[in-house]
Order: sequence, then structure tokens, then C-alpha cells
Amino acid sequence: MNAPWTPARAGTLREPFTAYVCDDATGEMLRAVAVELGWSQEKVNKGGLRNAVQSLSVSASPNILFVDLSESGDPLSDINSLAEVCEPGTIVIAAGQVNDVRLYRDLVASGIQDYLLKPLNVDQVRDAFAQAQAILSTPKYVEQSSVERPHVMTAVIGVRGGAGASTVATSLAWLFGEKSHRSTALLDLDVHFGTGALALDLEPGRGLTDAIENPSRIDGLFIERALVRANDKLAILSAEAPLSQSMLTDGSAFFQLQEELRSSFECTVVDLPRSTLIQHPHLLQEAQAAVIVTELTLAAARDVIRITSWLKANAPHVRVVIAANRVPTTGAPEVSRKDFETSIERKVDVIIPFDAKVAAQAAKLGKPLAEAAKGSKASNALVELSTRVIALIEDSATDDAGAKGKSLLGKLGDFKSLIPKKAKAAA
Ligand SMILES: Nc1ncnc2c1ncn2[C@@H]1O[C@H](COP(=O)(O)OP(=O)(O)OP(=O)(O)O)[C@@H](O)[C@H]1O
Ligand SMILES: [Mg+2]
Repeated sequence: MNAPWTPARAGTLREPFTAYVCDDATGEMLRAVAVELGWSQEKVNKGGLRNAVQSLSVSASPNILFVDLSESGDPLSDINSLAEVCEPGTIVIAAGQVNDVRLYRDLVASGIQDYLLKPLNVDQVRDAFAQAQAILSTPKYVEQSSVERPHVMTAVIGVRGGAGASTVATSLAWLFGEKSHRSTALLDLDVHFGTGALALDLEPGRGLTDAIENPSRIDGLFIERALVRANDKLAILSAEAPLSQSMLTDGSAFFQLQEELRSSFECTVVDLPRSTLIQHPHLLQEAQAAVIVTELTLAAARDVIRITSWLKANAPHVRVVIAANRVPTTGAPEVSRKDFETSIERKVDVIIPFDAKVAAQAAKLGKPLAEAAKGSKASNALVELSTRVIALIEDSATDDAGAKGKSLLGKLGDFKSLIPKKAKAAA
């Protein structure tokens, strides 16, 4: 619940639990469960929602609040008046006699944790409290930054499958937290096949799938519950959605998630599959930078050109950084760096060498490559990439190093010039 922060109440120790019920049977059941949980049974009061609003307007809110809506003529509007007096962080469980899924949804959207249908059943009450306790014991991700810094939102886009976009996104997010000391969220939008959580040895949870299914539920509290924490500075929102579920979305959930993450973290790194990018171009509205992850291959050169042109047309404000990944250290890449740069008409900003050993080590340890391979050339390149992105965003005067002047057709012309060279080399 969301009452404005009142200095007078700040610092008051919160009760673990308070209930306001309308009838004796509910009161008795709650007292019994309260005792089981080690709470005072005296905190079960009569008077339902009306009494709850009156009491909370003059006293500190408990951690868990149970309110009986049975005597309420307009539960939704009454819950909203409760929200005005109930301090942030309180988990509200409501009960009532109206069996209406719309009411349930509206109440949940207004910030209550659960709505239990009366007559209550003791297991249902126990479950609801257990869930509330689990949420309370989950670490809080929302950190207030002491320094006012612009939020840094970076999208990481792989131009071809397997180029290493997720590897780069995970490392970048970790480095923003570890090296730049900024609270960071990694939003993995590869809903079915995302590897963000896997790379950090975490269970993705249901947060992202829930968000897509119910975009109206997305708010600060939702974010707090849905994110999975990797360390003090890094939290992740990702999914391993069942392959039987198409997870159709108009993209509004993704957009709302970005909005919430922006207000709770200093940095957001979005692992943005190229198909999602094309489907939901508005996702780049909030991003200041895009890291384009490529390999030095012919197909990748074509798609760097197409994606950078797309960005220029659809998100001209986005600063583009090109990272060539999996670049062989022995032997030549499919296309040399020089030819690649000529073809895409701009410099490659960072070269991340192919290093099977550190990639295997990162996978084995369940750590981002930048962390698992500290000191290696690959890790150093990722550090360089992270500082470059931050610098680029902070320095609004920095010129976009992107290709200037030529049309897409012109660039594709250049890309095609690579083909005869390859044919000649193969001959
Ligand atoms: N610099 C590197 N050296 C060696 N292996 C790497 C490097 N970067 C990434 N890899 C490996 O390449 C594979 C693909 O990487 P990753 O999953 O990050 O690619 P992706 O672009 O996200 O793929 P997808 O298209 O499936 O989303 C992984 O096994 C990863 O460990
Ligand atoms: Mg990926």
C-alpha cells in the first residue's frame, strides 16, 4: 500500500501483524493462526475495514494487515481510502463475501496482496500469511541513489543468433553494478529461451511471465517481488516461458517494466532479441544506448548494416556501440576487421576475443564472463565496453560515431562488395 511517507511515523517500530474483522468466527480463526505464527492474538480487532482506516490514520502500519471487507458497500473505493493511510511496504490481505473475479482483479490492481473468499478456511489463511512472510523476507531492490545521475538504459542486440548478446548483456549488467557502483537491473526479454538467469546460476521465477500476462499488475511492489537478486547491485527479471505458451503481448508489459525499472534502478540492461526489437520498436524509446553484438562474418556485416539503419530510422536518439564478439585470436575471422569496418562504414568500437576456456569457466561457475574471467582479454574488453557505454550516455555532446550520410541502399552496396572478395579467396 502506498500512503505518502509521513515523517511523524517514520522510525516507529512496525507490528508484524494486525487484523480488522467483522465477525467472531473470522476473529477466532485469525487468532488461532496468529498464535501459530508467533504473533499476538490481541492484534485481531473488530470493526473491519472502517476501523482499519481509522486506526491506521493515527498509528504506524503493520507489516501484514488483514482487513475484512464484508461490511463495506464499495470495497474498491474503501480499499483506496485504506491506501491513503497505509504506509508503503505493508502487505494487505483482504477477505469478503463477494465472489467476483473482476473485483478480485481490481483489488489486486489497487495494491492488495490477496483476496480471500468468506467463509474462510484455515489452510487458505495460513497460505496467504506464508506468502506475505515470504515477500517480506525477500530483499528489497529499490535503492535510493545518493547522487543524482541520469538513468542509463542500454539495449543489447545480437545481429545474428549466438553472436553472444546475452553473454555481453549479463557481463555489462554485472560491470555496471560492480565497477560503476550503480544499482542495475537486467531485463531479459528472450521470454522463452533467455539465458540471463542461467548465466548467473539463478532460477528465473515467474515474474516476467506474470508481467506479460497481467500488465496492469506491474508496479513498484510487483517489481520488488518479481526480480531475482544476483548480488547487492544486480537484480534480474527473466523467464523460461513454457514452449507451449506463445506469450503474445502487445509490448505494453515490456514498456511498463522499463518504466518501473527506470524509477527503481540506476541502470537497466535489456537483453533485446532482434525479433522483439522489430516487433516492439517502442522499447527503444527509453534507451539511450544500444550495444550491437556481432561476429566478424559476412551475414553479420549485412545485419549490422540493416540494424543500424533501422535504429537510425526508428530510434535516432539511441547511441550505438558496435561490439565484435567471438573474434578468433589465432587465424583470420571470416571477414577481416578492416573489411568489416569498410562494409559497415564505421569503426567497430570493441573487439571481444573468442575464448572457449573462459566461456566454459563462466558457464561452470554460473558467473558472468566478465567476472569469471577477470584479467583475461575478453573480460578487459567487456570492461572497456561498459565504461564506453556509461561515458557515451553521460557525455551528451559525444558525436554518434555511427555511419553518416549514405543511404541504406548505398551501405548494402558496400556490403555486397565483400562477396566477390570471399569468392576470390575461396577460389
Ligand atoms: N567471447 C566469447 N568467447 C567464447 N565463447 C563465447 C564468447 N561470447 C559468447 N560465447 C559463447 O557463445 C555462446 C552463445 O552466446 P550467447 O548465448 O550469449 O549468444 P546470444 O547472441 O545471446 O544467442 P541467442 O541468439 O540464442 O540469444 C555461448 O555458449 C557463450 O558462452
Ligand atoms: Mg541470447
